[in-house]
Amino acid sequence: MNLDHLVEHSTALIQEFCKGGHPITCAFSGAEDVVVLDLMQRATCFVPIFAVDTARLHAETIAYIHHVQQHFTLDLTWIKPNPDAVTAFERENGRFSFYEDGHLACCNLRKTEPLRAHLAHFDGWLTGLRRDQDPNREALPEVQTDPVFKGLNGPLRKANPIANWSRGDVETYIQHRNLPQNPLVLKGYKSIGCAPCTRALKPQEHERAGRWWWETASNKECGLHQTPEQILHSVEDLPLTKR
Ligand code: ADX
Ligand code: SF4
Repeated sequence: MNLDHLVEHSTALIQEFCKGGHPITCAFSGAEDVVVLDLMQRATCFVPIFAVDTARLHAETIAYIHHVQQHFTLDLTWIKPNPDAVTAFERENGRFSFYEDGHLACCNLRKTEPLRAHLAHFDGWLTGLRRDQDPNREALPEVQTDPVFKGLNGPLRKANPIANWSRGDVETYIQHRNLPQNPLVLKGYKSIGCAPCTRALKPQEHERAGRWWWETASNKECGLHQTPEQILHSVEDLPLTKR
């Protein structure tokens, strides 16, 4: 599909997903998923947006999200982890336990659990996930029942309206629409997560190579989009040489 068709297709998908008056929300991570926010406006779908502030994001990402909020006049909520739980966790494990324990415990505390509590108020949510981000996302459906979280009335619907866009489509769209970009992009970052767990890419590296860069596992997930069992299982499935 060329970019015009992708835009048309994704806009229609968003309209269909948001119709019916169900409580729906949309994620914004402060990266190239700004495209989804622009498509939401095209679709005249003005659902509340949220960003998970793990308290370990780059200052640039926080500033960028504020900027995007003003750019689109978004109804944006910051989701934060429980500060007492963070203090207790750090007292027991230190501030950098993720460099040694596979990162899921910290991601669970700072991202997955706060998001679980937030999504329990909705029937559906939209993300900026794409199939070409990771081999592990290549079978991603455009609309699915969330494999991780439950919603207000039981199963939670999840829409991934740019699932079949390529990285190139996203970059071209951002350029054509003159959308604001996270300043870290100019410093060589592509996939952007928490500061201690994300580095700039080296030439020819895949877009998620800078996430949890000290790990060799090829399944670079944090629990937002796969259960811990799915993450560990898909790593175990890989031949040792590819882990
Ligand atoms: S992650 O699971 O590895 O962190 P990734 O950075 O690829 O996810 O982002 C994929 C999608 O997950 C984003 O487009 C967004 O929909 C959602 N997401 C990830 N991190 C956040 C965040 N901090 N706040 C809100 N949404 C997020
Ligand atoms: Fe913790 Fe790193 Fe996960 Fe952020 S990305 S929640 S700092 S392990």
